[in-house]
Amino acid sequence: MSVYKVTSSDINYPDSITQRLQVQHLLEPTGTVSITTGSDVIKGLTQTPKTLPFKYLYDDRGSELFEQICELPEYYPTRTETKILQEYASEIVRTTGASELVELGSGSSTKTRILLDTYQELGYPMSYLPIDVSGGMLEASAIQLLQDYSCLKVHGLVGIYEQALSHLQPTQLPTRTIAFVGSSLGNMSSQECERLFCQITGALQVGEYFLLGVDLQKPKEILDGAYDDTQGVTAAFNLNMLEHLNRRFEGNFDTTQFSHWAFYNETEQQVEMHLKSAIAQTVQLQSLSLKVNFTPGETIRTEISRKFDLCGIQQDLQAHQLIPQQVWTDENQWFALILSRLCS
Ligand code: AVJ
Repeated sequence: MSVYKVTSSDINYPDSITQRLQVQHLLEPTGTVSITTGSDVIKGLTQTPKTLPFKYLYDDRGSELFEQICELPEYYPTRTETKILQEYASEIVRTTGASELVELGSGSSTKTRILLDTYQELGYPMSYLPIDVSGGMLEASAIQLLQDYSCLKVHGLVGIYEQALSHLQPTQLPTRTIAFVGSSLGNMSSQECERLFCQITGALQVGEYFLLGVDLQKPKEILDGAYDDTQGVTAAFNLNMLEHLNRRFEGNFDTTQFSHWAFYNETEQQVEMHLKSAIAQTVQLQSLSLKVNFTPGETIRTEISRKFDLCGIQQDLQAHQLIPQQVWTDENQWFALILSRLCS
């Protein structure tokens, strides 16, 4: 595993910015080995029922479409979590006190600003460690943040969570808070959640904090609408995965022969997003030497989005020595922020 640092010489920004920025790449510097081999694609498309890893939703176009989803009237999670954060950021920050903020899947860091604003208002030192697989996005948002917060230090880690969490150096501040907001936990199976919680426990010292944002169970009609909006943005987001695979693996998916299908699976307590083949067809991914047959109506599951029970998720945290200190939610109890603390 190669680790290197982007020093200020790599980027043409004033010293006042670059002196407060460090970006560490935990991936192979030439890029994306696991992603170019596509072994996960082969595995998913040769099994029954067919699946594809949700990470392929997020090429540049996909990330753009996701930002649009967050603005949709039907898509309540982003709006609801933002409101909770705005209302309770000062309680959160007062509870942790001066703390380093580590964020898993930082993306555009939009919601993080609410916390950073509060650290700044309270006059706390500000140290932010964004972790994301997208180095471009991470560096761009880090530069923006450094321009907007003159006392902020940013140490970005480009890589997957597991790698990044095992590379955290001891914090300079009195405590550390690992934040995982946006209900991204919903994309993981319960085994994957378990693994992540273990890694988080491993990255924290006793007494340090874990801030988790989770989407909660709610009536099926609301969930069905949130993942199948009337403007078709979520459909475009889902279908874009095929374009992404075509580009990445010399594929010939015809997006007009697949359709978006999303629904709340009440038994599994998860929204499932699928792509449904309209006809019998064979698709090729040349660089993977892969040919895939579809029967009419056959689907590929592209994402799960689990909806949590507030008691259940707190028990899961507790089982990993992460003791919930406080829970904040909205008036409908649609979304929750849970602040836990590692006990001995
Ligand atoms: C980014 C995982 C929180 O599951 O709601 C939005 C992704 N998929 N619409 C979610 C998504 C379809 C989103 N997360």
